[in-house]
Amino acid sequence: MLSRLSIPIIQAPMLGATTEPIAIAVSNAGGMGSFAAAGSNPDQIKASVAAMNSATQAPYAVNIFVLDPVDPDPSVVRAAMELLAPWRERYGLPPQSIPNSWAQNTAAQVDAIIEVAPPAASFTFGCLPADEVARLKAANIYVIGTATTVAEAKAWEAAGADAICAQGIEAGGHRGTFLADMHASAIGTMSLVRTIRAAVDLPLIAAGGITDGEGIAAALMLGADAVQVGTAYLLSEEATTPAPQREAILNAPDDPTRLTRAISGRYARGIDNEFMRAMRPIEDSIAPYPIQNALTGELRAAAIKANSTDVMSLWAGQSVKLARSGKAADITRDLWKQAQAVMRARTTRFGGSPGTSLAYRRGSVNHRRAPRTFQAEDGGEE
Ligand SMILES: Cc1cc2nc3c(=O)[nH]c(=O)nc-3n(C[C@H](O)[C@H](O)[C@H](O)COP(=O)(O)O)c2cc1C
Repeated sequence: MLSRLSIPIIQAPMLGATTEPIAIAVSNAGGMGSFAAAGSNPDQIKASVAAMNSATQAPYAVNIFVLDPVDPDPSVVRAAMELLAPWRERYGLPPQSIPNSWAQNTAAQVDAIIEVAPPAASFTFGCLPADEVARLKAANIYVIGTATTVAEAKAWEAAGADAICAQGIEAGGHRGTFLADMHASAIGTMSLVRTIRAAVDLPLIAAGGITDGEGIAAALMLGADAVQVGTAYLLSEEATTPAPQREAILNAPDDPTRLTRAISGRYARGIDNEFMRAMRPIEDSIAPYPIQNALTGELRAAAIKANSTDVMSLWAGQSVKLARSGKAADITRDLWKQAQAVMRARTTRFGGSPGTSLAYRRGSVNHRRAPRTFQAEDGGEE
């Protein structure tokens, strides 16, 4: 699947910022769009896949979270609600009632995905059991598992995944981490790609901090087969990024992001805001995902409506200052053109003798898998 893409750029699934139109635009431009379906129920997933299928023949991915059903202790829920009460008052919201459900049911979402069989499905927050992966693959669905450590990549390999998305600590949004704690899993994209490449024999997608042609070229040079780019698309026309978040991105100070679990109960990277700062001293005691996430839902929506960035999630990666405006298809093509130019220029300057680069192409440099080759605009090989 990855080697069939004419542009090895996957538009990252971004819940709250990416619906069908951006995925269609990127897939039709030659990259691979992703539809963020974690918040969708089975019927909504089926409807989205039907909409995607009628708009593109190209590969695309549907993305969901791997979650265990939860039955929280009422005292945990009460404490979380008390913590949020003053913030709800600030936005004129009534006292909180307990949500009907805490999150979508992963098993039901997987069943829906298998029924409608999109070309690819990507997963984060956990690893599916091998029999579920086998059911997806039997339906001809390309399975991509997100890993933030080598151990997580090995878990997905053992489960039978087709490819690994290596999510470095630079990445915007939630950490996909599911085996060790956040601190043990805070690995930069450069180390993560190299160490997973050395340990796991699957196609590899690099994610995290990749926002321009230089970043794409670097990730491919590290041995990635494709890149997954999120933050770079947040200002695109087709992204559904809320207006206050767009403003926050455009006006971001230098080095503006932090990791927080205050908003959802799971560590995520976003532009720092008042709620994140206020919760920082008690961050460890905040209710876990998806409890906190469900309980802050109304509050975040009210903040967006009030055009306020105080309590909303401003998910964005460390390279957020490089996010660009424009049409998603143009961004995709420009990123790839830029990456190709960078690779050409660097090969000319640092590539060594023709013999050296030939050896590299044949995979004799310490790659477990031979690096793929790309067709340059002028028809030559990159
Ligand atoms: C606003 C936002 C929402 C995200 N939502 C999801 C999601 O729904 N599913 C998922 O697998 N990853 C999600 N991510 C993470 C991305 O898939 C990807 O790992 C990340 O964007 C890559 O790093 P970058 O933002 O530096 O490009 C999200 C990222 C952002 C910025």
